[in-house]
Amino acid sequence: MLVTDAIGVFDSGIGGLSVLKQLVRFLPFENYIYLGDTARVPYGSKSVSIVKLYAEECTNFLKSKNVKLIVIACNTVSAVALDKVRHIAGDIPVIGMIQPAANAALRSTKNNKIGIIGTRATIASNAYAEIIAEKAGESVKVISQETPLFVPLVEEGMIKHEATKLIAQEYLTKFIDENIDTLVLGCTHYPLLSQMILEILPNVIQIDSGEHAAVNALKLLAEQKLLQPERQEFAIKHNIKFYVTDIPTHFYEQTQHFLGFPVDAPEEINL
Ligand code: DGL
Repeated sequence: MLVTDAIGVFDSGIGGLSVLKQLVRFLPFENYIYLGDTARVPYGSKSVSIVKLYAEECTNFLKSKNVKLIVIACNTVSAVALDKVRHIAGDIPVIGMIQPAANAALRSTKNNKIGIIGTRATIASNAYAEIIAEKAGESVKVISQETPLFVPLVEEGMIKHEATKLIAQEYLTKFIDENIDTLVLGCTHYPLLSQMILEILPNVIQIDSGEHAAVNALKLLAEQKLLQPERQEFAIKHNIKFYVTDIPTHFYEQTQHFLGFPVDAPEEINL
């Protein structure tokens, strides 16, 4: 399948599919190139310099495909390597996950208590807390929690598993004590656990970083007059080309399952 004039999307693995799903929801007529760096997932427990190196390689790959927009469908990369990706991307606009989700959390909170969950690297970067503090000063309390086991559990498809629930309870109970009313799912793998999180925190509004990034992508493409014209065939099949850096079969099964519509098998590449 030939994909031209596409939106390039990358993540360490399947987490970015939650972002792709939102992009397709808001931008159904677009062509997409999705790169899952499955050989090197997870990014979230790696050092900043390694994540920057991986981000550089993913960006160069998407750039070589002449994409018109790059969406970093990974909070970890957005937290530690956004500037680097923008620098490499040059004229190609780049949308990260942190700013749109932080803005959405500020719009959502009524009691000014926001929880953030993310990978070790995202939480250590303090990226969410800093953006929220820049906008709201001391008036908003941010409570952060790293939740490193969520990524492997999602990658293994253990979304409804009892073990995952126990781990989620262990991670999330502090948010009940802190009385947050808004929780940022600060990793693109986490929307796949949103039902379970809702059971533990029933009164808390969850912010899906992919959803808000997709709205930003729509605005940006509209402003720059880069939107694809409407077409009919998208209802039958979305135009998405998948690339992975390891085990395409496993990724393919999960892709079909999570996106809920038919897609072509991924192509394995070396970065
Ligand atoms: N899904 C990614 C994120 O949003 C990365 C998870 C990982 O590879 O650790 O942070």
